[in-house]
Amino acid sequence: MQRILIDTDPGVDDAFAILLAMRSPELRVEAITTVCGNAPVAQATQNLLTILGVLDLDVFPLIAQGEAEPLVKPLVTAAHVHGEDGLGNTSELRNADGNLLYPSVNTEVSSMSAVDLILEMATSYPDELVIVTLGPLTNIAKAIRKDASKMQQLQKIVVMGGVFEAYGNVTLTAEFNIFVDPHAAHEVFHFGVPVYIAPLDVTHQVILTGERLHAEVDKRESPISNFLKDSTHACMEFYRQHVGFWGFHIHDALPIGMLTHPDYFESVDAYVQVETAGTLTNGMTIADLRRERQPSNPNAHVCVKVAAEAFLDTFFERLQ
Ligand code: RIB
Ligand code: CA
Repeated sequence: MQRILIDTDPGVDDAFAILLAMRSPELRVEAITTVCGNAPVAQATQNLLTILGVLDLDVFPLIAQGEAEPLVKPLVTAAHVHGEDGLGNTSELRNADGNLLYPSVNTEVSSMSAVDLILEMATSYPDELVIVTLGPLTNIAKAIRKDASKMQQLQKIVVMGGVFEAYGNVTLTAEFNIFVDPHAAHEVFHFGVPVYIAPLDVTHQVILTGERLHAEVDKRESPISNFLKDSTHACMEFYRQHVGFWGFHIHDALPIGMLTHPDYFESVDAYVQVETAGTLTNGMTIADLRRERQPSNPNAHVCVKVAAEAFLDTFFERLQ
């Protein structure tokens, strides 16, 4: 059983990842911290409570709210993809009685900051805790700045972010999580704790079509299946208009799969750098992923291939 802390900016695909993690027997989600990204951090925290409310939980992960702004750049959010509330506008949905369809769960948000909870978890489970990041890396970089020796006790950091041999999804060259806070990504990638990266190169291999999602959801009525359907209207419409298919990429679910089903994934060792000063290339992740060029001084394991259909089947088996 793997103890993890999830750092997230929910986010519709974050929601899919969190639901998957909470339903994965291989994982024990000790804590979840929120960070600015898809939505402002207060909204991200509210969204996390909504997501956990979809599950019938008796015991909850520790929860703490994180940084409201990137290290240097002004915050860029993604309401055009994830809806005004960052969760596919599910926060407005009400049933026939006028009650919220997805009320947030009744559990407390810690008075600690995300940075302090991350540091506390790292020292509580030395050489065991894995941090899975689903948003910009601001909280992680701030925790390293605050107490690098405590952060050295992490087993590894698994990051959804970056793009290497494909186009970006914010600019031609940058993926959203890294683009929002490239300075934080640079500090995390050069910190020294093992880093595993799930870039767009691999998350784009998993294509969840609206047809597949609705077919799975219609198999079995449940709060989770209703949420999967209700939370994805906005982002699938965005994909229809701007990406070329009705559906979406469940980017953030892949780092979870890398922990529960490592045999579904292939990675290469690489020396990854982040452009923090560029104009056209700001937030670009740069590495030579050619197998014959694997560096003597890698700082990351970059995932380049996934058994996409097997992963999708496992995803729905777990959630349904
Ligand atoms: O580029 C995809 C990433 O950016 C995902 O984590 C998505 O939730 C957004 O945060
Ligand atoms: Ca995310």
